[in-house]
Amino acid sequence: MPQVFSHTTVLLEEAVTSLVTDPSGFYVDGTFGRGGHSERILRELDAQGRLMAIDKDPEAIAHARERFADEPRFSICHGSFSELDRFVADAGMTGKVSGILLDLGVSSPQLDDPERGFSFLNDGPLDMRMDTSSGESAAEWINRAPEEEIADVIYHYGEERFSRRMAKAIVAAREEEPITTTARLSKIIAEANPRWEKGKNPATRAFQGIRIHVNRELEDIEQVLEKSLEALAIGGHLVVISFHSLEDRLVKRFIRKYVKGDEHLPPGIPVTDDMLNQRLNSGGKAIKASKAEVDANPRSRSAVMRVAVKKA
Ligand SMILES: C[S@@+](CC[C@H](N)C(=O)[O-])C[C@H]1O[C@@H](n2cnc3c(N)ncnc32)[C@H](O)[C@@H]1O
Repeated sequence: MPQVFSHTTVLLEEAVTSLVTDPSGFYVDGTFGRGGHSERILRELDAQGRLMAIDKDPEAIAHARERFADEPRFSICHGSFSELDRFVADAGMTGKVSGILLDLGVSSPQLDDPERGFSFLNDGPLDMRMDTSSGESAAEWINRAPEEEIADVIYHYGEERFSRRMAKAIVAAREEEPITTTARLSKIIAEANPRWEKGKNPATRAFQGIRIHVNRELEDIEQVLEKSLEALAIGGHLVVISFHSLEDRLVKRFIRKYVKGDEHLPPGIPVTDDMLNQRLNSGGKAIKASKAEVDANPRSRSAVMRVAVKKA
């Protein structure tokens, strides 16, 4: 029997309570995963409410089609949430979306299934793509990229200080034989890491960096945040859950930029609200998982949720 991998939804109540303000509204779940948030959103909506979900991962799409086959208020789109403008325009809802939810990063089924190639714990083909139907796999990239590019990715996206040594070891190893499995890559990286942190796999940071690069994760986030401004209705809520500081920094900066507005207007001219481009109100302080949630689901430990409300 095929193994079933499940996902425990993080900040479920908090996210849905912040998101749904109008039960008859049109909502977007930009990261369907296994539908934990989607299911809860649908429960909050009345017969007029609609939910459009998006995911890059064909397995998530198949799951959505099966799970919500009999749910007329639900639709699913395959692609990146960075294409939000197109998906929302196709639904005729530009400027009319009541709320957008983004629960960033990878799902547990992606991490836990060795065949997806994200895991340094279980051996599998070195893939790491959320969208297995397009783009370059981790193996394709790692066997062709220049040493310096590999080092930069591991340093910037993995925040790994031994990135140069690791990139050097990867390039030396691939000259002997192409690197095609997660176990081999993890071993090469671990051997190049001179300082193993207690309780942390020595390849953790490097794997995170490579995953972020292969999936263009930060570029996609920057794009969807900007595009949410045109998609949302006035008063619509943007709710974003991040799992590491690189993601959260982008979200925090984006909200701050549009709450404060343009601070660099030429001096000496009367400034109108329009010119300031203040398009968001802050939805309050960042929210973290409760102790009870962290005890029940350790993955929620690093989750940070931020909320913003479209103002203009
Ligand atoms: C943390 S999981 C979401 C879990 C979901 N909220 C649930 O409760 O089941 C993140 C999901 O977002 C998807 N994803 C990540 N980045 C994406 C992007 N740029 N565009 C579309 N989907 C993306 C991943 O494929 C994954 O399925």
